[in-house]
Amino acid sequence: MQYPQPDEYHQAVQNPQNCFFDTELKVSRIETNNLGLPKVRSGNFASVYKLQSGNYAFAVRCFLKHFSDISDRYREISSHLDKINSNYFVKFEYLKTGIKVGNKQLPILKMEWANGKTFGEFISECVSCRNRDGIIALKGMFARLVQELRKHNISHCDLQHGNILINNNELKLVDYDGMYVPGLKGRSSHEVGHPNYQHPKRKPTDYNEQTDNFSAMAIYTALTALAYDMNLWKYSNGDNLLFTEKDFANCNQSALFRELAGINDADVKKLSSELAAACLKPVGQCPDFLKFVNGVALSSAKTDFKKSRSWTSNSALIVLCVVTILIIVSQLLLKESSLQPTKVTPPAPSVTTNNAPQRPSNAAPQIANNAIQQPHENRMQSNESANIGATTVPQDISHFIVPEIKTRPSGATVFIDGKPRGRTPLYNVPLDKGHSYIIRFELGNHKSDPMVIKDGQKDFPVVSLEE
Ligand SMILES: Nc1ncnc2c1ncn2[C@@H]1O[C@H](COP(=O)(O)OP(=O)(O)O)[C@@H](O)[C@H]1O
Ligand SMILES: [Mg+2]
Repeated sequence: MQYPQPDEYHQAVQNPQNCFFDTELKVSRIETNNLGLPKVRSGNFASVYKLQSGNYAFAVRCFLKHFSDISDRYREISSHLDKINSNYFVKFEYLKTGIKVGNKQLPILKMEWANGKTFGEFISECVSCRNRDGIIALKGMFARLVQELRKHNISHCDLQHGNILINNNELKLVDYDGMYVPGLKGRSSHEVGHPNYQHPKRKPTDYNEQTDNFSAMAIYTALTALAYDMNLWKYSNGDNLLFTEKDFANCNQSALFRELAGINDADVKKLSSELAAACLKPVGQCPDFLKFVNGVALSSAKTDFKKSRSWTSNSALIVLCVVTILIIVSQLLLKESSLQPTKVTPPAPSVTTNNAPQRPSNAAPQIANNAIQQPHENRMQSNESANIGATTVPQDISHFIVPEIKTRPSGATVFIDGKPRGRTPLYNVPLDKGHSYIIRFELGNHKSDPMVIKDGQKDFPVVSLEE
């Protein structure tokens, strides 16, 4: 089947009410550009639009190419991601009848919108601001992301600057068309990833849990080299980090590989020479990324970060010592002159964070509620990124979390203060502190009576919508 061209989707999405079949998308507003036209983000395989409904946002991914088994693949991917419940992914729903374009009814992927910058934008900004710490922190975050994928036997299969988003020191992956999960073992992929990140000999049959090794090495090497010398950004062409497919196809002639080999830094030298060596080997003999990183640079990523912050930490230490000495001296003086005893200030009460339970792993992915609940789940699990040297994400004390909002039967649309917030069951719903909320439910023609959720309320009763 021939799928629509980007301009045909563009035309159609101008009227969400008419083009979408999903009730939430129908009532959403499409993000527009300066000219008032839908803003599109696109790659080779999809046109992606942002739709806003109340406080939450969806990404609608319109497919440009048809693969007969795509719904099957998405089912496998979704079931695996639901089991592992990892923060690196956004929730999504494959809607077989998603959008009407002309007289065709086509599938779409309705996704949770991931805020933030793309990996490429983030690095470009770090380079402009000469923010070496940012690049080093990103390197650590990226290594952890790959570690997490490996832990769950997943290969994203298209790791690149546009498919990794960063927000509040957290990475999110998008673009799951070509992803490998254990349920897809034995199949081939329909795509072989962005050529500026892939092994020059990668074929559709190179599709397994090791597939990310090469792209991960390329990204990690680029970040290590950039952290050493940001002037290397001259090799970026807007569609890569440093390397291009030409560098991989002909590493012996590559100006970039030559320049990296001449850099006076052991990590850059070692990583780039291993990457060049991998280009010449068969895909299957690519070093395992985790060994590559553990052997060389994961430890130095931590040290580098410490190194780059050492001036600040040392100064802080010196200031602390001076202040402590001054306090001791002043107290001694006070004592000696028998002035008022020092007032003992009670320790500040420690702030306890909302400890909302995780969404049960067997719960069906709820696009609507996840768009609002995810940021909070993320914040609560952000200690991982702190470990790799990134700034700790502040704890959120401005919200309270309602752990569960359920109805019998489930599937009812939840309206909080008149705004739709998704369908039941909803988990970990964040609400601003200091307010009470009116909540009501709609299921088919059935409308519940309005109820109140009070500030800090933890238990919300299961609401029966049965006649
Ligand atoms: N769920 C999402 N949230 C936010 N941005 C997204 C989301 N999905 C895709 N995007 C943006 O749209 C771009 C293109 O989408 P993608 O799925 O990568 O399409 P393609 O397969 O054509 O590369 C991405 O690079 C990203 O910037
Ligand atoms: Mg993409």
